[in-house]
Amino acid sequence: MSGRIIVVSGYNYVNTSKKIADELRADFLDVKYKRFPDGELYVRIEDPSIIRDSTVVVVNTMYPSQNDSIIETLFLLDAVKRYSPRRIVLCTPYLAYARQDKQFLPGESVSGEVIVNILSSIGIDALVVVDIHAPHLLEGFKGYAANVLISDLLVEEGLKTMTNPIILAPDKGAIGRARYAAEKHGLEYDYLEKYRDRITGEITIKPKNLSVKNRDVIIVDDIISTGGTIAKAAKMVLERGARKVYVAASHALLINDALTKIRRSGAEMIITANTLAQKINDKLIRYVDISSRLAETINPLLS
Ligand code: R5P
Repeated sequence: MSGRIIVVSGYNYVNTSKKIADELRADFLDVKYKRFPDGELYVRIEDPSIIRDSTVVVVNTMYPSQNDSIIETLFLLDAVKRYSPRRIVLCTPYLAYARQDKQFLPGESVSGEVIVNILSSIGIDALVVVDIHAPHLLEGFKGYAANVLISDLLVEEGLKTMTNPIILAPDKGAIGRARYAAEKHGLEYDYLEKYRDRITGEITIKPKNLSVKNRDVIIVDDIISTGGTIAKAAKMVLERGARKVYVAASHALLINDALTKIRRSGAEMIITANTLAQKINDKLIRYVDISSRLAETINPLLS
């Protein structure tokens, strides 16, 4: 790697951005942010002259305030581009709108594609995201794109207080995350499947292949939004005889009463990461710092 490395951060994500800058041994460039009286955003890089011929890593998450964060990220990228950097890497651990990755109903916008297309159109060399809901969206990015999985790090935190653990995905589609963590730690893994009794119509949710009886269980998912998916999964697993249940989710949005729902389900811990610009102080939640993992991914993209 040659030349200067510079990190530029979004307003709400400075703490994590500075950690990433330290890991990369990069300079951290100050930005002036303001909001006009009509609500519009303004950014100004305070010492832009050092950008020329440097590699710039723009770091910003897109939650909370998704729409503002997207605009802010675009403005930062534009401000950087105006000073002819050698390379631009965008690291956005939470990429907003990624759950709308196709038309579920006729007439819908595929908003995940829109976001990726807009980022592509700015002309970024590389894009780094964390555990995107629909990895196929990144195929639309014109440049190198990395989807950083962190389920192994989240599970590692849970394993400190578990015996005879098993990793579960809440559905078949999420099995990749469970497998990734399980293989890293040499554990068994499975996914939950819904069964409907053909006579009574009753629905049961249970692991496809393995028994959870007397096992400690970590349920691994990408996003906790309303908490419904995880709360249901945790409750079912405990009803089937699991000794204790932890939840490991890359992005803990925890909207409205999600935390209460999960607490009531019997889950004893939510393990998540600093992928968002929010930190909820609650004894149920453990945060894992993923700045080293991000720096490890970004480092080879700098030259
Ligand atoms: C769904 O496909 C996702 O992987 C998550 O399970 C989902 O977004 C979680 O949403 P909620 O917390 O609202 O159930």
